[in-house]
Amino acid sequence: MEGVKKAIFGTCLFPAFQPAQPYFMTKKITIAIDGFSSTGKSTVAKQLAKELGYVYVDTGAMYRAVTLYALRKKYIFDDHFDKNALIAELPLIRLKFIFNPEVGFGEMYLNDEKVEKEIRQMEVSQYVSKVAAVPEVREMLVAQQQEMGKEKGIVMDGRDIGTVVFPEAELKIFMTASAQERAQRRYKELSERGEEVTYKEVLENVEERDHLDTTRKDSPLVKAKDAKEIDNSHLTLTGQFEKILELYNATISN
Ligand code: DC
Repeated sequence: MEGVKKAIFGTCLFPAFQPAQPYFMTKKITIAIDGFSSTGKSTVAKQLAKELGYVYVDTGAMYRAVTLYALRKKYIFDDHFDKNALIAELPLIRLKFIFNPEVGFGEMYLNDEKVEKEIRQMEVSQYVSKVAAVPEVREMLVAQQQEMGKEKGIVMDGRDIGTVVFPEAELKIFMTASAQERAQRRYKELSERGEEVTYKEVLENVEERDHLDTTRKDSPLVKAKDAKEIDNSHLTLTGQFEKILELYNATISN
């Protein structure tokens, strides 16, 4: 396991962004963005990382990549989940993000294969909460995330970033929006990508994941005490970004 971890950390490529003025003179902090699925965490986290010249890490992509691995190996399907088979193969799962300048963020690679598109498919969404509930999976991924963020200057989004991965993060944001609003956004995204899904299926998936993510034993999704909550049901992307930038500026000047 140790050797595998080293290999992962050694190969994580995040070329430095061009730091935007005036932020590059300021001290680097850790920014944790947690919240329910499809709250637009990754959109705002990417925007923020670009603005500040920070590294962006989408931890959901890591859980999704492990799920894709389990699906391909048929360790998970319907109601069947062979957790032990997956746990035994965790040392064989190599994850890395490789920065793609064309899209402006690090894309997910599973054992040297780019899986950015595959991990966003509905099938992965259906099983990911079950995989993310396995303590051994969480332990491996949390260790990798902590390593990626040890130099600070990072915006990380997920479910347990402010509570477990970086409880000392200087800025913690907790994003919420109604399940209907989130399902609508996700439905639009999937339809635009050509996936044949109904709004009802997406809403059911969002509600089921909310339930599994908030009730699992290991690191359930909860708002950290010191997190700032943003309900973006009625916020525009610009409005939301400005709000978060204000929070960042307040944190830095404290
Ligand atoms: O952010 P997302 O929807 O891509 O995340 C996919 C799943 O991974 C989500 O249902 C919960 C899980 N997850 C987690 O348990 N912890 C994280 N830090 C990130 C995601």
